[in-house]
Amino acid sequence: MATVDIIIGTVYGSAVLVAETLEEALVKAGHSVTLHEDAELDELDQSHFWLFVTSTTGQGDIPPNLVSLVEALRETCPPIPEVRYALVALGDSSYDDFCGAGRQLDEQLQELQAQSVTARLQVDATETLEPEVPALEWLKGWIEKI
Ligand SMILES: Cc1cc2nc3c(=O)[nH]c(=O)nc-3n(C[C@H](O)[C@H](O)[C@H](O)COP(=O)(O)O)c2cc1C
Repeated sequence: MATVDIIIGTVYGSAVLVAETLEEALVKAGHSVTLHEDAELDELDQSHFWLFVTSTTGQGDIPPNLVSLVEALRETCPPIPEVRYALVALGDSSYDDFCGAGRQLDEQLQELQAQSVTARLQVDATETLEPEVPALEWLKGWIEKI
């Protein structure tokens, strides 16, 4: 069974709810899970599975509680080819840069050669008030790969 770090970017808490729902499913499947609401790069273990759940704020911007990690990935991180990850992006398609934070983060991880185990899920707040529902379905589609 794997050790999973769920790394959260949120402003208003929706991403926390999604993260907690995914945590529950992962624990039920026998994995060990830690939630990070203020993740720092040097505190993350690259042998763990990294599951990102982030909303977008401003105009396609990273939520403040995730900025430090994203800047560290951009500015100081060497390639991390051993890291396996998946990413849920919460957004709202009425904004110009839909799920911009999730897209930027995913692109950054790809640039650092981290291994995505599944395509990024983008959840549109104009389509659902319960982002944890599609997130849970998405998790079921690839949980065996952890
Ligand atoms: C001030 C503000 C700015 C936002 N900017 C964007 C944006 O640029 N792109 C996007 O896709 N969603 C944007 N959103 C939508 C949020 O990402 C979406 O509602 C998300 O579910 C919020 O999750 P959270 O509660 O975890 O922060 C914005 C929401 C607010 C309130």
